[in-house]
Order: sequence, then C-alpha cells, then structure tokens
Amino acid sequence: MRFGLAWVRGQATATSRPGGNQAELTPLDEKLGEVLGLAQAAQDATTKVAGMEGADEFQSRLEQMSQQAAETERRVDELVDGFDGKKTAIREKAANTKSEAKEMMRTYLAEDEEALDGFEFLTMAEAGELGHWEIVTTMSDTFGEAQIAQLADWAVSVQRKHVDAVRESCLELAVSEAKG
Ligand SMILES: [Fe+2]
Repeated sequence: MRFGLAWVRGQATATSRPGGNQAELTPLDEKLGEVLGLAQAAQDATTKVAGMEGADEFQSRLEQMSQQAAETERRVDELVDGFDGKKTAIREKAANTKSEAKEMMRTYLAEDEEALDGFEFLTMAEAGELGHWEIVTTMSDTFGEAQIAQLADWAVSVQRKHVDAVRESCLELAVSEAKG
C-alpha cells in the first residue's frame, strides 16, 4: 500500500517534470510547500481587502499583515533553498496551494466589495494559515527538525496575531454595520 502510494506520487511528479528527478516529499516537506503557498496568497488577500469599501481605517493593520506574510514567505523560501533535490517539488506544491487559495478567495468574494466581507474571508484564511503552521510545529518536533521548529514557532506567534487582528476588525465593522 505504501509502495503503491509512493509510485503514484512518483508518476505525478514525473508528468510535471519530464525527465527530471522524481523528488519524494515527506509529509513535512509537503506542509512547508503549503505554508509557503499560503504566505504568498495572504499577501494578495490582504491587498485585496485593503482596497474594499470601508477598509480605510484598517490600512496599517492590513499593511503589517501583508509585510509579515512577505517575511514568512522569505524565511520559508530561504529554508527550502537548502533542500537539494527537493526544493523544486516543494515550490511546485506552494504554487498549487497558492492557486487553490486564490480560487477560494475569488469564489468567496465573487460579488462582494465591502470590507466586512473581506475580513470574513480573512477569518478563514488566517485561521487556516495558523492551523497549517501548528501542524508544521508538531511534525518538526516529532522529527527533531530543530531549524524548522524554530521557524514554525515564530510563524505561529505571527499567525496568532493575524487571527486576533482579523477578529477585532470584523467586530469593529460589525458595530458600524449594525448601526447602519
Ligand atoms: Fe497571516
């Protein structure tokens, strides 16, 4: 069964890179690809929400979140750059995750232009990002990957602040929406 799964993954990798190395990613490598893609998508999402109706007073908060997402992307990419033989596959995983996250944003915000809708989307996106980083923390602790665990600890603390900031913004907007 395990062999079968590895074979299927090997085939999938081979079709995306004909003649290339068939990098076999560990579950932790795959998670790193996912958090890399989510950090990339988060920069687009915060920029999108910053441009929505009623987002004026949240500009500095959104800007900070966007910069921290860029810093997260930079740190993960720097780490992945040292993974010889696997970095291309991890970056491919990131690109897939990013396009899935952007597709989700397009679907969710199809007709919406108001900041509250935007922050509702960020409620899901930031919670998802936090959840992924907590998984990275647990996996890297389990495998004794100290360098990855250190990065994940930093990212989890950043993500907790993002989740709080988005929640506060939603509730502030809810008050103004309720008052009409
Ligand atoms: Fe974030």
